[in-house]
Amino acid sequence: MWKSATVYQLYPASHHIAKLDYLKNLGVDVIWLSPIYRSPLADMGYDISNYKDSDARYGTIEDWDRLLAMDLVVNHTSDKYIWRPGKSVFQGSAWEHDSTTGEYYLHLFVSKQPDLNWDNPVVRSDIWDNMQFWRASPQIDVINCISKTDGLPDAPLVDRMQYYQPASMYITNGPQVHKYIKQMHTEVLSQHDLIMVGETPFTHEASGLAAYVLPQNREFNMLFQFELMDFDSRSESPLLKNFWTLGELKAIIGRWQRFMRDDGFWNAAYIENHDQARSVVRFWNDTAQWRAVSAKMLIILEITQMVTLYVYQGQELGLKNFPRTWRIEEYDDVASQIYWNLTEYQRQKAQGKEAVEMFDILDSFAQKARDHARTPIQWNAGAHGGFTTGTPYMRVNDDYPEWNAEQQIGDETSVHAF
Ligand code: GLC
Repeated sequence: MWKSATVYQLYPASHHIAKLDYLKNLGVDVIWLSPIYRSPLADMGYDISNYKDSDARYGTIEDWDRLLAMDLVVNHTSDKYIWRPGKSVFQGSAWEHDSTTGEYYLHLFVSKQPDLNWDNPVVRSDIWDNMQFWRASPQIDVINCISKTDGLPDAPLVDRMQYYQPASMYITNGPQVHKYIKQMHTEVLSQHDLIMVGETPFTHEASGLAAYVLPQNREFNMLFQFELMDFDSRSESPLLKNFWTLGELKAIIGRWQRFMRDDGFWNAAYIENHDQARSVVRFWNDTAQWRAVSAKMLIILEITQMVTLYVYQGQELGLKNFPRTWRIEEYDDVASQIYWNLTEYQRQKAQGKEAVEMFDILDSFAQKARDHARTPIQWNAGAHGGFTTGTPYMRVNDDYPEWNAEQQIGDETSVHAF
């Protein structure tokens, strides 16, 4: 059943919880939520401060008790959670000084997301306990990062132009990762009927991920692989656009489709999520003439593969990125803000001599920033696209008066109808 399911990813901050009928009519089998745990929202809920409570803005635990799938973030926690002494992905150092202990703590993501020490059995048993509490089918965030290379060595200098060096070989697929996942299976998963999905950034070779998915290993049903998500990015940052060819796109999809297929390796198809700009912009053509056709073509590309299909909210409407004219102040995401500030700092230090142009960064952000996936869903042509009568936490994309769910539901040629 899970192989033929259509999973709909809902980003709670930008959806509308009263719209469950909309999802029913769309025919989705599984709803997967981005985190609603209690959080100071430094990274929009991917920094959890209480693993056994929901954030007040999304309702109470009782409201959520009947929902069964949520993104689980256990590689790291919020810095408001109790933590133990133990090149951040969003740029900058991965180490933060803590004045209470006089020590440094590791954070692969922002400084408000200290990594958990999975080598500590007490930490692991706490995680199993939290998983039992939710009884939800988890998509486990950055699961291939939970075990790091022993001794946490410094990354080698590979790019003299960059102040911080990439360290993914020391932070992914570490020595204990499969042992811990198997333990998770014994302690939690084997006791429930759950779909298991893992997010595995930084590893682009399918062979490096086989052990996570092959059925006899009893780890994951499928993964969110990043080869397709990263191939249009520059190596310095996923927020910078790289040029690509149709041949490359085709080769990547073909390779994953064929990889160990007879041995039971299974793929999840996703082309959008809350970390990616809109696919009509990234992979096709979002001009008025081609936008709807592009959105339909991309969904054909996904459903004609042998995969479990993931649809990200708004993809079913062919939503697109917000315009290039929006200023940096409209970018809410911590990854955009950090990248911007760091580049601004470097530019000021070089006193204008350096060829780092802030305009170029906005050009790239207009194509690649995560923010584009996070604007509120455009329900109708009313104020703020019918998302709220108050002030939305993020501005609604400018095209909502002519491009919204209500108008598409009534139109049999729309992306939604398709
Ligand atoms: C995952 C999430 C992303 C988050 C990061 C750190 O990649 O999808 O939104 O910022 O992990 O938790």
